[in-house]
Amino acid sequence: MDPIYETSRAAVTVRPAHPDDAGAIRAIRNHVIEHSTALWTQTQQSPAEGTAWLAAHLERGSAFVAEADGEVAGFAVYGPWRQLDGFRHTVEDSVYVRDGRHGLGVGSALLAALITAARDAGHHVVIAGIEAENTSSIRLHERFGFRHAGTVPEVGTKFGRWLDLTIMQLPLT
Ligand SMILES: CC(C)(COP(=O)(O)OP(=O)(O)OC[C@H]1O[C@@H](n2cnc3c(N)ncnc32)[C@H](O)[C@@H]1OP(=O)(O)O)[C@@H](O)C(=O)NCCC(=O)NCCS
Repeated sequence: MDPIYETSRAAVTVRPAHPDDAGAIRAIRNHVIEHSTALWTQTQQSPAEGTAWLAAHLERGSAFVAEADGEVAGFAVYGPWRQLDGFRHTVEDSVYVRDGRHGLGVGSALLAALITAARDAGHHVVIAGIEAENTSSIRLHERFGFRHAGTVPEVGTKFGRWLDLTIMQLPLT
């Protein structure tokens, strides 16, 4: 499949995800679950859960992977922000870059592709829910025009402490 976004900064190609990416995506996701507060769970995703989770995104066309040096360097997905049908024009994004490849433009390449795809799909707003101390994700989203909508204190917990959630939003239309 043709790449949908390319950047020379880190020789990154972003393309739609396919079922064979499930293992690489799950490895990145589980590393984040084990080591970081970017995902608010300590439950690792099983292979079957990873495949099912990705399948729902593949059906919607809302999963993207970044390839660099022949490996999956990161992934991004978007999905419904909330389930009631009145929220149907708003989606929430998630961007994750493989450990060791941070700060090289991979996240930017992924988010650029995701925004283009969400706009082409006719969505109205993209939301990002970010742990308030995750400065790299906040900076990444600011770079693409996301504005701070607010921070909700102590709505999550991990590693024995409360977590604050910063909500950012990008209008698409
Ligand atoms: C957040 C994340 C997706 C950013 O992707 P990335 O490929 O590292 O980011 P990029 O190289 O494209 O840089 C994007 C911006 O983030 C900033 N940034 C990247 N790493 C940073 C760091 N460690 N500290 C502060 N800012 C950082 C860059 O400066 C850049 O902004 P600038 O070009 O205006 O200076 C990536 O670091 C990651 O996967 N982190 C762990 C998982 C996570 O937190 N995901 C987001 C959940 S909401």
